[in-house]
Parts: sequence; C-alpha cells; structure tokens
Amino acid sequence: MSDTPHIAQKAPLPIEVTEGKTYFWCSCGKSQNQPFCDGSHKGSGFEPLKYTAEADKKVFFCGCKHSKTQPLCDGSHKDL
Ligand code: FES
Ligand code: FES
Repeated sequence: MSDTPHIAQKAPLPIEVTEGKTYFWCSCGKSQNQPFCDGSHKGSGFEPLKYTAEADKKVFFCGCKHSKTQPLCDGSHKDL
C-alpha cells in the first residue's frame, strides 16, 4: 500500500468525451487501459475518480496521476 500513485506516463491523454457520459479516471496509475480504471487499483487504497462530461469535447486526462486538478492535466507532469 502506498499513497504515491504510479506514473502511467508523463503526458496527458487526449480523449473525445460525450456530453452526459460518465468516465472513471484511474488515479492509481496501474490500469492497462489509461486514462481509465480497469480495476487494477484493488488493494492499493486508490479509487477511480468519476468524471461526467458536460459537453461533447476533447479533454486532456492526466496520465502522470500527480495533477492538482484531477482527473484533468494541469501541467504538473512537467515537474516530475
Ligand atoms: Fe487505477 Fe482503478 S486501475 S484507479
Ligand atoms: Fe498529469 Fe499533466 S499528465 S499533470
């Protein structure tokens, strides 16, 4: 058990989201289906973060898991 997430990648993942659809962002960094949760967090103390799209648009999900504006990238990956 650790409170530091695994760095899946030091870059965001651009995703076209659909208005009203719910997504579960991987906060632990262990998912093989980035940026989304695939259940790999089990036993780690991490939980996926729910994100509901308010419009059809492209968003940049955080891949490094260190963003302060999770689940979206805030540029923090540049300091890792
Ligand atoms: Fe990372 Fe679920 S696999 S939060
Ligand atoms: Fe995590 Fe940019 S990918 S802050």
